[in-house]
Amino acid sequence: MPPVLRESERLRGVQPPVIPIVAGMIRAHPGTISLGQGVAFYGPPKVRRTLREFFADAENHKYKPVGGIEPLKEMLARKLERENGTKVDDSRRLVVTAGGNMAFMNAVLAVADVGDEVVLPLPYYFNHEMAVRIAGCTPVFVATDEQYQLRPDAIRDAMTPRTRAVVTVSPNNPTGAVYPEALLREVNRLCAARGVYHVHDEAYEYFTYGGVSHFSAGAIEGAEGHTITLHSLSKSYGFASWRIGAMVIPAHLYEAVRKIQDTILICPPVVSQFAAIGALEAGRAFCEQHKPAIEHVRTTLLEELRGLGDAVRVPPADGAFYFYVTVDARMTAMELVETLIREHGVAVIPGTTFGTEGCVVRVSYGALRPETAIEGVGRLVRGLKAILRFQGAQRGTGF
Ligand SMILES: Cc1ncc(COP(=O)(O)O)c(C=O)c1O
Repeated sequence: MPPVLRESERLRGVQPPVIPIVAGMIRAHPGTISLGQGVAFYGPPKVRRTLREFFADAENHKYKPVGGIEPLKEMLARKLERENGTKVDDSRRLVVTAGGNMAFMNAVLAVADVGDEVVLPLPYYFNHEMAVRIAGCTPVFVATDEQYQLRPDAIRDAMTPRTRAVVTVSPNNPTGAVYPEALLREVNRLCAARGVYHVHDEAYEYFTYGGVSHFSAGAIEGAEGHTITLHSLSKSYGFASWRIGAMVIPAHLYEAVRKIQDTILICPPVVSQFAAIGALEAGRAFCEQHKPAIEHVRTTLLEELRGLGDAVRVPPADGAFYFYVTVDARMTAMELVETLIREHGVAVIPGTTFGTEGCVVRVSYGALRPETAIEGVGRLVRGLKAILRFQGAQRGTGF
């Protein structure tokens, strides 16, 4: 018998990413409209000029600095100071990464040892939970309130001597919740008091609605020594495949992060960094110009879901491009997803992916052009009605 080869114990405990699983179901049912994907529907601004600059110099095909090329770092530093109140000075360092996910992995590997704990409010962004486990650490889940807002008391109770970091994501994936400044300050203070890092993911910073504003944890005075902020161009600039993000870290973590990134990546793709300069030149206004289309789908979706009555609950969500919807159906979230794809031609993501039990699904409204998205909303609402009516009839209650 040849010896049996298998993956590490650590990786066996990591959930498989769900998006490809749902994508497989969608492929099996051609014509399905996906309200599953967490990306913006538009592509990047015009980046041809900076790409021409990339190709004009043969040196650009060689390795470049681990933490990003200087002109991009300078632009990002200016953006962070202007928009996020985060000054990159002697106390902090800015590192360009191959996306926000890589920034998170860098952060976990830099601050935690095997067996340490990382606090994740529920529901979590699935790649965060996966990264913590891949690093050999234990994710410690804490409850949020019924509107998916942070509960600092629960975070405090979850902390142990092994806690190395508390993670917050605002605007949130998967709930769309935007955390108010006061709550983020409280969590940040708590982390400082306990000697724990506060990792704050701001990938959706431009996506807030109805006058609600985004607050950056990097803006908190005294936060520089224990706060790590994660940034991404993927959503704001329709830049997901270019793989450019950034992290702002306390200066004392710089060497650790450089070691990790040098080993895994050597340097962020230089062609993408040139493209990122072009994107940042277009600036926030580029994203703002697409937001009305997303808001239109959001309003329609919300009205339609609310029209379904008490059997479908949608907590307030002022950001990102998600609603996290609880459905009073007697089936699991995955069964609901399968039924919606198979019988109604529309896909959403099961809440189990984000650590939520029960029949909860994430509905994404940013990834499709408005006409298609609205058609998807129609299918979703008709599908939910049909499922609830059928179950109501079975129960003899009607819907
Ligand atoms: C909260 C959050 N952080 C990070 C990412 C990934 O960003 P990037 O494409 O920059 O790796 C996502 C993508 O869905 C996300 O939802």
